[in-house]
Order: sequence, then structure tokens, then C-alpha cells
Amino acid sequence: MNSQLNGVHFLFVPTVLVLLYFSMARTTIAVVEVHNINTDQSSLLAFKDNISYDANDFLAKNWSVETPICNWYGVTCDSSHLRVTSLNLSHMGLVGTISPHLGNLSFLRKLDLSNNSFQFSSK
Ligand SMILES: *[C@@H]1O[C@H](CO)[C@@H](O)[C@H](O)[C@H]1NC(C)=O
Ligand SMILES: *[C@@H]1O[C@H](CO)[C@@H](O)[C@H](O)[C@H]1NC(C)=O
Ligand SMILES: *[C@@H]1O[C@H](CO)[C@@H](O)[C@H](O)[C@H]1NC(C)=O
Ligand SMILES: *[C@@H]1O[C@H](CO)[C@@H](O)[C@H](O)[C@H]1NC(C)=O
Ligand SMILES: *[C@@H]1O[C@H](CO)[C@@H](O)[C@H](O)[C@H]1NC(C)=O
Repeated sequence: MNSQLNGVHFLFVPTVLVLLYFSMARTTIAVVEVHNINTDQSSLLAFKDNISYDANDFLAKNWSVETPICNWYGVTCDSSHLRVTSLNLSHMGLVGTISPHLGNLSFLRKLDLSNNSFQFSSK
């Protein structure tokens, strides 16, 4: 009777460990996915949300979620990681505030918003 119970125990322990291992691995993958191109897309969409004037709705049309952000006007991506490395929207006559979400573009190295009318958001 006793040895039977022990046998049950020994079967249970490794099963629990294996399940724990897989759920931890899954969590790690999920975290990695959050900080990828989807973060860059939502940062750029938040940036677009804070543009109050955009002649002919150029960005409103071009920055469409139907096309990959690396094809969006003014956006340059790193070819191996497909992360946004440069944003150049100079000379577009845009009016708005600079969304703090721009700070989430963690691979951004070049930003040119010259000759527009941007203000920093008070938020
Ligand atoms: C910027 O956009 C956010 C929504 O993404 C909005 O809540 C906020 O009021 C906007 N700020 C300005 C100054 O437009
Ligand atoms: C957005 O602009 C880029 C660069 O000018 C162009 O290649 C692309 O086709 C445009 N996309 C849309 C959906 O208008
Ligand atoms: C941004 O684009 C403009 C015009 O296309 C170009 O003259 C300027 O040098 C670019 N800015 C940067 C920082 O590369
Ligand atoms: C500023 O941008 C406008 C287009 O919005 C352009 O016509 C003008 O030549 C630009 N000025 C400079 C100094 O680049
Ligand atoms: C991006 O930045 C904003 C404001 O700085 C922050 O509230 C938000 O949680 C960030 N989003 C992600 C996905 O990191």
C-alpha cells in the first residue's frame, strides 16, 4: 500500500515540473513578442493619433494597418530585425503634438520632424 502511494507520488512530481517548464517557456515567448514590431506599430499609430492637421490626410491613408509599417511613408526599418530605426516626416506641414509613445520605438536612431508644427505633449 505504502509503496504504491510512493509510486503515485514519483509519477506526479515530474509531470508537474514538465508542465511548469512549458508554461514558463510560453510566458517568455509571449514577453518577447510584446516588444517587437507590434510595439512599433502601436507607437506609430499613437503618434499619428496626435497629428491634428495632415494635408490631404496623407499619413492617415498611407499609414494603414493593412500594410506593414516598414512600407509606411517616412519609416525605415532595420532589414534583419524589422524594427523601426528611422522616422523622417520632415517638410510635411504636419500640425500636432509629439506623442510620448514615440519613446517606445526602442530601435529608433534617427528622427527628423523638421519644418512641421509639432509641440511636445503636456501628458
Ligand atoms: C493624443 O492621442 C491620445 C490617444 O492616442 C489622446 O488621448 C490624447 O488626448 C491626444 N493628445 C493630443 C494633445 O492630441
Ligand atoms: C505609402 O508611401 C510609400 C512611400 O512613398 C509607398 O511606397 C507606399 O506604396 C504607400 N502606401 C500606401 C498604402 O499608400
Ligand atoms: C529627411 O528627409 C529629407 C527629405 O527627404 C532629407 O533632406 C533629410 O536629410 C532627411 N533627414 C535625415 C535626418 O536623414
Ligand atoms: C517646409 O515644408 C513646406 C511643405 O510643407 C515646403 O513647401 C517648404 O519649402 C519647406 N521649407 C523649408 C525651409 O524646407
Ligand atoms: C508606450 O509608452 C507609453 C507612454 O510613454 C506607455 O504608457 C505605454 O505603456 C507604452 N506601451 C508599450 C506597449 O510599451
